[in-house]
Amino acid sequence: SYTARIGPSILSSDLAQLGQECRRMMECGADYLHLDVMDGHFVPNITFGHPMVECLRTAVGPDPFFDMHMMVSRPEQWVKPMAAAGASQYTFHLEATTNPGNLIKEIRESGMKVGLAIKPATTVEELAPWAAQVDMALVMTVEPGFGGQKFMEDMMPKVSWLRSQFPSLDIEVDGGVGPDSIHRCAEAGANMIVSGSAVVSSDDPRSVIALLKNVVME
Ligand code: DX5
Ligand code: ZN
Repeated sequence: SYTARIGPSILSSDLAQLGQECRRMMECGADYLHLDVMDGHFVPNITFGHPMVECLRTAVGPDPFFDMHMMVSRPEQWVKPMAAAGASQYTFHLEATTNPGNLIKEIRESGMKVGLAIKPATTVEELAPWAAQVDMALVMTVEPGFGGQKFMEDMMPKVSWLRSQFPSLDIEVDGGVGPDSIHRCAEAGANMIVSGSAVVSSDDPRSVIALLKNVVME
């Protein structure tokens, strides 16, 4: 049997109510929360940083898993502050660093899990040398920067290849994933599914999360 976890991205939610939105997503059946950090440099958009994460941790309590998707140019800079703020996993972009090995080590030493993300133009062969050292690989299924974009189905071969090479690696997909595209992700072998606008912008997030879970649990 195959099971995947669903992690809503709160990027598309009411940003004035983020704490409440995070609580609401957990109450609606989310398995974890995917928190999108953007610096206006690595991507053409800005969201929030570690002070916000600290407040969100206080709002939701100690249990929810925070997967920090760090769309920032100098990921080394925020490892310690994010760990101190209550982040559970630090997912950085391979394109943003010249020394992934050292960064992986620093993240581990800080007590967080390690995620490694690749943009659509980055090949999975570039990620592969690091895959055995990380907890999770993130295959982006949109160009990072904005919620609500169209799912890129042509990223699925990356997921299938990673799954074939690294059977126990957590593999996450992020971007445009919802009831219409989650089948593809599950078939390819993704086991951590980010869904932003499809869940958050719905009138009934509980039903959408239940629907998504139904696809990935059998
Ligand atoms: C895009 C972000 C995604 C995005 C997901 O840069 O990394 O997490 O917000 O939202 P949807 O599911 O709407 O594409
Ligand atoms: Zn993301």
